Amino acid sequence: MSESRIHNAALRGKIMSADEAAAFINPGDNIGVSGFTGSGHPKEVPQALARRIEAATARGETFRVGLWTGASTAPELDGALSKVNGVSLRLPYQSDPDCRNRINAGEAFYTDVHLSHVAQNAAWGHYGKLDVALIEVVAILEDGRLVPSTSIGNNPTWLQLADRVILEVNTGLNAQLEGMHDIYEVALPPNRQPIPIVRADDRIGTPYLTVDPKKIVAVVETNTPDRDTKFSAPDENSRLIAGHILDFLAHEVKLGRIPANLLPLQSGVGNVANAVMAGLNDGPYENLTAYTEVLQDGMLDMIRSGKLVSASATAISLSKEALTDFNANLSEYRKRIILRPQEISNHPEVARRLGVISMNGMLEADIYGNVNSTHVLGSRMMNGLGGSGDFARNAYLSIFMTPSLAKNGALSCIVPMVSHVDHTEHDVQVLVTEHGLADLRGLAPTQRAKRVIEKCADPKFRPALHDYLARATSAANGKQTPHLLGEAFDWHLRALRGESM
Ligand code: COA
Repeated sequence: MSESRIHNAALRGKIMSADEAAAFINPGDNIGVSGFTGSGHPKEVPQALARRIEAATARGETFRVGLWTGASTAPELDGALSKVNGVSLRLPYQSDPDCRNRINAGEAFYTDVHLSHVAQNAAWGHYGKLDVALIEVVAILEDGRLVPSTSIGNNPTWLQLADRVILEVNTGLNAQLEGMHDIYEVALPPNRQPIPIVRADDRIGTPYLTVDPKKIVAVVETNTPDRDTKFSAPDENSRLIAGHILDFLAHEVKLGRIPANLLPLQSGVGNVANAVMAGLNDGPYENLTAYTEVLQDGMLDMIRSGKLVSASATAISLSKEALTDFNANLSEYRKRIILRPQEISNHPEVARRLGVISMNGMLEADIYGNVNSTHVLGSRMMNGLGGSGDFARNAYLSIFMTPSLAKNGALSCIVPMVSHVDHTEHDVQVLVTEHGLADLRGLAPTQRAKRVIEKCADPKFRPALHDYLARATSAANGKQTPHLLGEAFDWHLRALRGESM
């Protein structure tokens, strides 16, 4: 397994087992790991660390670490460390059931951050000192440069800030990934310069990561694939949502507001987002581009069909079937895909310049257009904000979508007041459910409310929402954004009692 991927002689001398490498991690350390949406995360050392933590805990010792990543990872990282309650603080995004349970049980702190902000926050020291960088790579070149894996995330920052570096060299990943990446580092103010990306497919950096070789304490060889990110076939609601978005985009093109090949697409995580991509793939568009964070199956299909001519992201997160195709045709995909650090893939400056069309999932929206992407019934963390805010505020079009109902129809995803705000009404231009699309641009709050209720709410909740708006409008002492504060959260209180909203 070892012969071909570690070409640097000095680093060959640092090859060791995952258990030996994990011994470089101490209780209380902060670890910056690679990994973004189940791709490019270290596979072996986190599990070895979990075993150490479990053994220490059994001896009555406290052994916990701060875990900083790109975004969500996989069971062998977030899952393994959370199962042994080994994570004291997690940032900036997760979607693992064990990790989520620890957070919601109050057993792990969680800092939910705009993904483009993480690198600068870390460099400014807001998260404390970074002790260890644990990074998966595809290969180490003779001169010590690193060929990145299937995600970049915050790796350049972790490699720069950490005192000690552990590398996992994964021979299970395709060596032809070399050349797909574009590493560009942003200086901190006052030395920050404009990021010279003017087209989604501009390359502005180098394909390799660099690190001070003196900091590398261990090199571990692995041979494990990324997480199989399964997508279900689009259900009826997803197809309807996708249809509304496609009609709307066609309308925007017809009005001459966007070009015939649209503007660069940003597509969020999950099945609905994937269904929208499937809809676009079947639609009339040609020469599409993407400036997004994660490349999922849907976008790969569009590259294969020729509809999508280029895609910029920070991670590739695929199902097993799509991964097989990706590996078989990597030399072709490499011409169309660029993986960048998440600070660049999600950068507000670039999203604004390119005029991205941003499409993200949400849990609920209120009648005025405030969006909750993260907290179930106000308090319980689902996944996190991810990059949705990076794009929403700076996109040409910020679209949020959800089925109108959740939990077998008991919950309305359109409510009088959201139980948690991730995206304010000022950052939300378009809301979509299976019932329709509400274009909120240019509308005042009460106009927005009427449109959201009519277009997006499920018919069974529309009368109650209209009633709320009417009574609020006549009773509230301010008519700009009328609310009945004593009543606004009754909907959520009913849900907490297990009743229909
Ligand atoms: N109230 C309570 N629970 C709700 C809800 C609501 N209004 N709406 C959805 N849910 C629950 C669902 O029942 C489901 O629960 P389950 O896992 O127990 O079955 C869960 O939330 C996920 O809902 P689902 O309909 O499967 O949505 P999804 O897979 O499209 O994900 C988000 C929706 C909001 C969770 C997801 O888009 C997300 O994490 N977004 C934030 C990050 C982001 O936007 N990243 C992309 C940026 S580039």
